[in-house]
Amino acid sequence: MMPDANTMTPIQVGLDDGYAFTKVALPDGRLIAIPSRARVGKSSVTWIDDGQQRIFEYETEGTLYSVGAVDAAPTHFEGYPNSGLNRVIVQHALQETGLAGRTIHAISGLPVSAFYNKNGEQRRETIEKKCHSLKQGVQPKMERLPAEIAFVDVIPEALAAWYDYVIVTKEDEVMLDEQRLSVPVAIVDIGGRTTDFVVVKDQGVIHTSSGSLQGGMLDVKQHVANGIQARFDLENVGEQLVTYAVECGVVRLQGKDHNVAELVGTAKRELVERLYAETRRQLGLGVELDRVLFVGGGTFALVEHIADWFPHQVIAEHPAFANARGMLKYLQYVCEESDVA
Ligand SMILES: Nc1ncnc2c1ncn2[C@@H]1O[C@H](COP(=O)(O)OP(=O)(O)OP(=O)(O)O)[C@@H](O)[C@H]1O
Ligand SMILES: [Mg+2]
Repeated sequence: MMPDANTMTPIQVGLDDGYAFTKVALPDGRLIAIPSRARVGKSSVTWIDDGQQRIFEYETEGTLYSVGAVDAAPTHFEGYPNSGLNRVIVQHALQETGLAGRTIHAISGLPVSAFYNKNGEQRRETIEKKCHSLKQGVQPKMERLPAEIAFVDVIPEALAAWYDYVIVTKEDEVMLDEQRLSVPVAIVDIGGRTTDFVVVKDQGVIHTSSGSLQGGMLDVKQHVANGIQARFDLENVGEQLVTYAVECGVVRLQGKDHNVAELVGTAKRELVERLYAETRRQLGLGVELDRVLFVGGGTFALVEHIADWFPHQVIAEHPAFANARGMLKYLQYVCEESDVA
């Protein structure tokens, strides 16, 4: 059977495969996020109704992984961006986006400090490793065709949010916002494992005020997990249970709800203090900046705590997707066609 023209045409995606969530931005405006959640091994669950399946199996480099509603292996280890764990989660995100069987052209990201050396040089080896990893095949273990990444390049994560900020799409029109382009702007990206800082001035990255802090919402999760374990004298605390506790301030154990809002509040405040100190260290009071733009899912989760850090701060629209949107715009409007060929 001949593949139809639609499946032959590569589809462009912004692919922000973070430590906490994998976000996909599509040219038709759709934004999709799945938790970066998987582990090695079979799912050990048989689904009575396939429509209700919540755990999916994938194989890459001869290793089988379960992705979806599993108690996940932590993603916050050094090699995660080039790992099989990362690759199966990305494949699952593409499958969930409806891209089974499609050829993908993607821009992805790395934290600022993984992308640049302190002196501002690109860490080519790290960048190429990540591109190579994403292009390796992943086989869904159900009756679905894999999505195949044929082209991928990587840009610094927070810089992607800057592209999103300066490339403006209105209805069917795309334009560079000259005013935004001409002024110095800082981006603060509060993520799961890292918080990224980027200052862009005259279309260049100011390395003295840019970098990554190892700290994000996954630290809050860890703190809450430890607290629940101690308070209820548990040997193990499931990862999904902790996620729910952080989001809702409640933990359900043996059929009974317990309020853990205070524990969550303490964990958030601890992170916020570290973020605040690092933000002041990187940006000072931001007097020479025109704007400080907050992005990342952590911005959403900590919105009350970061409300008054700068008089000229702004929270991006759907902040968790700012990087993914910027990656897509970079691919659509900045990448040369010869790069993508
Ligand atoms: N819609 C939301 N509501 C509440 N909290 C959210 C939301 N989206 C994300 N978060 C929180 O923000 C955290 C960080 O999300 P984000 O997607 O920015 O992380 P990430 O990009 O995967 O991490 P990193 O940038 O370190 O790789 C999540 O762990 C979650 O706690
Ligand atoms: Mg991120």
